[in-house]
Amino acid sequence: MIKKVAILANGGDVAGFNAVIRGILKTAENTGVECYGFIDGYNGLLKNEFVKLSTAEAGNALGILPKGGSIIGSSTNANVFHYKVEKEDGTVEFQDLSDQCVENVKRNGFECLFTLGGDGTQKSARDFSLKGINVIGVPKTIDNDVACTEITFGYNTAVSVAMEALDRLHTTGETHHRIMVLEVMGRYAGWIALESAIAGGADVALIPEIPYDIERVASKIKNRQKRGKNFSVVVVAEGAKPKGGDITIQGKRNNGEGVDNNKLGGVGQVVAKQLEELTGLEARNTTLGYMQRGGTPTAFDRVLSTKYGVKAMQLALEGKFGTLAVIKNGKLDEVSLEEVVGNNKKIGAVSGNTEESNIRRVTMDDDLVKTARSIGINLGD
Ligand code: F6P
Repeated sequence: MIKKVAILANGGDVAGFNAVIRGILKTAENTGVECYGFIDGYNGLLKNEFVKLSTAEAGNALGILPKGGSIIGSSTNANVFHYKVEKEDGTVEFQDLSDQCVENVKRNGFECLFTLGGDGTQKSARDFSLKGINVIGVPKTIDNDVACTEITFGYNTAVSVAMEALDRLHTTGETHHRIMVLEVMGRYAGWIALESAIAGGADVALIPEIPYDIERVASKIKNRQKRGKNFSVVVVAEGAKPKGGDITIQGKRNNGEGVDNNKLGGVGQVVAKQLEELTGLEARNTTLGYMQRGGTPTAFDRVLSTKYGVKAMQLALEGKFGTLAVIKNGKLDEVSLEEVVGNNKKIGAVSGNTEESNIRRVTMDDDLVKTARSIGINLGD
């Protein structure tokens, strides 16, 4: 029977991080297991920085269910298998510091490490499991693109925030006879854009999986004009790209191999400008940004996150390590982390969030695509 476990939250934050932590912690406390949290994700694991978590009176994990962010922090771009180290002379070197992490887990007697994160986090988790650490993953990301699960925690909240933005853009767009473009996150997957477009009654949704033809989008808007509708609402995923063209990036980062060095963003503005020229209507872009990640989780995400936390702790109690808690056919389940990384097998290779990583993208036979097409949402093709 295990007695001591640790949690780490890694990658971009989402609403629901704390609800998962609470689900794990409460189940641990109810079964006599001590639960700790590494500070700032894999960075805390590397630096051996952690705290004991508790829901007891005056404990540090009280009242966290509705709280946004993560009470134990999180880190983006901390690939400990290819870690950016700045040397005294100002130069940068990338080192494999994973053995130090393994040592920290063993020295502190953690019998299971819960890794709350997206595909990059789970790639590292799988690599740690090959190094002999008992790992259980929980699929997090607003992007909803982790392989082998039907939904990640944090996604529903992001979609709800985008839907509210669309409702608001709708009324201002209608009033001023404008094209209102909303750029949403999602990296190389179009889930947020597609689902929020349906929820928010948008006229167009441009997603990375369907390279768009701007002329066709303009035709859709002009047809609406012909029918007396002098405004349109367009959702653009940050990873959307034109047919035969490329993604729009804000800039490049230097975080080494194995992480995405593209900082996506800007396509909404590009699309707005082109549509203005092609239709003669005024167009305005709004980039929703980090609103999609912050704040309190929806009821759906609170429940999903709690279910995931409980499932993860149960997997630990059953000794089912090297797995990811997932939703399959609508029910809690688990899959091996090997399956999650797919063909991305090499230890320390592509950590995640890159175009090459094994992520779940929107497929053309998905119900969301069929639904969007049926109700006349233009998908740019
Ligand atoms: O992966 C989650 C996400 O919010 C993406 O949708 C977005 O492209 C990215 O993270 C932003 O990352 P950062 O926090 O590094 O700016």
